[in-house]
This record gives sequence, structure tokens and C-alpha cells, in this order.
Amino acid sequence: MRLELMPDLRPPAPRTDRDYLLYVHIPFCESLCPFCPFHKIKLDAGKAVPYFRALAKEIELYRRLGYDFSALYVGGGTPTVMPEQLSEILSLIRSLFSIRQISVETNPNHLREPALSLLKAAGVNRLSVGVQSFDDRLLKEMSRYTSYGSSAEIIERLTHTQGMFDTLNVDMIFNFPHQSLASLQRDIVILTEDIKVDQLSFYPLMASAETQSAIVQEMGTFTLDREQRFYEAILESMGSAYVPSTVWCFSRDTSMIDEYVVGYDEYLGVGSGSFSYLDGIVYASTFSISHYVSRITEGKTAISARRRLSRREQMQHDFLFKLFALAIDLETMETKYDNTFLLALWKEFLLFRLLRAIIRNGNGYRLTRRGMYYWVVMMREFFLGTNNFRDQMRAGLSAERDLALAENPMRVRPWR
Ligand SMILES: C[S@@+](CC[C@H](N)C(=O)[O-])C[C@H]1O[C@@H](n2cnc3c(N)ncnc32)[C@H](O)[C@@H]1O
Ligand code: SF4
Repeated sequence: MRLELMPDLRPPAPRTDRDYLLYVHIPFCESLCPFCPFHKIKLDAGKAVPYFRALAKEIELYRRLGYDFSALYVGGGTPTVMPEQLSEILSLIRSLFSIRQISVETNPNHLREPALSLLKAAGVNRLSVGVQSFDDRLLKEMSRYTSYGSSAEIIERLTHTQGMFDTLNVDMIFNFPHQSLASLQRDIVILTEDIKVDQLSFYPLMASAETQSAIVQEMGTFTLDREQRFYEAILESMGSAYVPSTVWCFSRDTSMIDEYVVGYDEYLGVGSGSFSYLDGIVYASTFSISHYVSRITEGKTAISARRRLSRREQMQHDFLFKLFALAIDLETMETKYDNTFLLALWKEFLLFRLLRAIIRNGNGYRLTRRGMYYWVVMMREFFLGTNNFRDQMRAGLSAERDLALAENPMRVRPWR
């Protein structure tokens, strides 16, 4: 993916006919997991305190630029590493924008006081807890056992938290090198029959160029050969009480909010390492935390790269994401793309119809059971592509520094 590196890029002016989601990135974790490709560093209060301060400034900047948001997603890293600071950010956002839904990611060791009360008081509707597995051997292999809790501790904390928020989601991963089918099925029973959690998301293990060697070293040899079998086992074991809202997210009640807050085609990201998708352009904010803080303090935006999607790529993006959420409405797509959608993507529609992955449904198409695994594969590849984008951003840090020095040659700051 080709990136344009530029200092202080500004996003387009907000459009009154659009409904935007605000994404906030908190890139700190108490301990790092070998499989994780996201933008994160080990928690250091000396970096986190100025970071939260800069975040507040960046949010205020977008308010001044005229943006409004009706939903908020706080992801990481681990957003709850400093609960008081997070709660201040949440109340600032609620005071500036017309927020109706707040989703926050966390880890099991934070399911305790005062964090839970602060999140509740801050209006969090959906709390998403990263568990990955209830198998202690796997938790040890992924270096989460000591930092984030044993299986028994996690079960106790989830049981205590279930019912406190509109939606309690649990993030799980399937196809770990030493994971057995029996271990995965046990995880599903714990979640759906013992805890009766509101919602669960089962991601296939994604091994990016950057994480592949750490996965092999810490967790064992990774293969895609078992992925489909594991996914089929998830669909079979889920039970009728849980309904899919995407190919890998299952809810006990269809009114639950899912990870992608379906209905938001465009979002603006704030924080180091966040992405925005606005008017067919992907924007990325600097991956250097010190650069992020200094840019925002100087009153600039943190955006340092962008990539414009062609019209066809925008349509393919919609095709992928709408069917990921199980159905695509052609009327909506034709209105959005001036009646060129089916004309441009007829090959994609034909291919997936022939593969019996999609079938006609009302005004559009819906995914078949067979199609669900095709979409797991395509979304996995999409996210791996995003990880390459992240790798390019990390690799581009020195180029970004050169740009910043060219802007202000007197400024020499430490770079991560
Ligand atoms: C990026 S983390 C942020 C929230 C929190 N720090 C946590 O660990 O859950 C969100 C979720 O992404 C998923 N994830 C991270 N790396 C992954 C990978 N390589 N493959 C599949 N899912 C992954 C995990 O399920 C994780 O819970
Ligand atoms: S999975 Fe979560 S806790 Fe682990 S490194 Fe990634 S963001 Fe941090």
C-alpha cells in the first residue's frame, strides 16, 4: 500500500449529511502479548500523562473544526491503564459531542474498583474484555497469565461484571498453535453456558510479518490448516441463544452494539497510531508518541500519512464490510455510488454467487453459512494488510522526523 508522508495534514471539513464515529487510541499496556500487531508500548506514566493531556487538546481541535460524533470507540493498547485520565477524556467528549454510544476495550485485571464504577459513571455502554482463551497453558504461552489473570480469576471477574453494562463483550482468539478443538469448545461452554456473557467475538489468530517470529518462538508453529475446522466448531457450538452480527461476533440479544457499530461508514481517529476513513481517504496519525505530543502541543494535527482509495477500492471496501456484517443492501449502495456499484463490482458478485457464498435477499445479498468462512479469510487478509500499513508507518518514522526537522531545524526530540 503506497503511503504519502506529509506533516500536519488536515482531514476534510465535516459534512452535515454524515454520521461519524470517533475512535480514540490509547497505546499503553501493562505487558505486551507476542501475537499483537497493534500500536502499543509498555505503560510508562511519564509518557502516558502528557499523552492524555495531548489527547484532550486534539479532541478540542476537531470540535473547533466543526466535527460532531454520535458514537465513540476507545481502543488500544489498553484504554483503562489510567482509569481516572480515561474518565476525564470520556466526560470531555460527552460535553463536546452528541455521543449516544460508548464502547471501551479493557483487560480482565481491570474488572475491579474503582475502574468499573468510573466507566459506568462515564456512560460506557459496551465494555469489551480481551480474554483470548480460558486455557491456562495458552495464557502462559501468550504471557498473559501473570499480568492479566489465570482462567479461574478471569471467569470470576467476568461473572461479577456481567450485567453491569448494556453489552459485555469478550474477545477470544482461535487457532493458537497449541490450542485443541476440545479447549476451544470448553471456552465456548464457559462463555455461553456458565457466564452467559452478552456478546463474544472470535478472531482467527492473525500472524503479521512483524509478529510471526514472536508467535513461533513463544507459542509454537502457526498453521492455517486448522483454521476452517476451528471456525466451523465455533458456529456449531455457539447454540441458538447467540446470533451472529458479523462473521465473528455473536450476541445473546440482537440489539447489542457490535464492534463495528454497524451504520458508521466513516470515522475519525485521534491519538497516536489511529486511523481515520473520511471521504474515501485513509489518514494515519504518527506512531511516535513523543512526536504526537509535540505536534498536538504546537496546535497541529497528528496526521502524518494518507492514502486515497480509488472509487473502485471504496466500493470493494463497502462490499467487504457490509457482507462482513452479513448483508448488503444494493439500493443504498447504488444511491451512494450514483448507480455504478453493481456495474463496477459485477465480477465480485458473480464469483461469490458461483461459490454459493452469497444469495439474493430482498434488495440485496446476504452471506450464506458457507460464505461466512470465506469472509473470515478475507477479513483476516484485510487486517493483515492494515498491519502492513502499520509497519510502513513505523518504518516511516525516520522519514517523518526528517520532515519535522525540515519544518523546524532547531527542534531535536527523542524518537521512539
Ligand atoms: C488490540 S486488543 C486491545 C484490548 C486489550 N488490550 C486486549 O488485550 O484485549 C483487542 C483484541 O484484539 C485481538 N487481537 C490482538 N492481536 C490479534 C491477532 N494477532 N490475531 C487475532 N486477534 C488479535 C485480541 O482478541 C484482543 O483482545
Ligand atoms: S493484545 Fe491487548 S494487552 Fe496484549 S499487547 Fe495487544 S493491546 Fe496490549
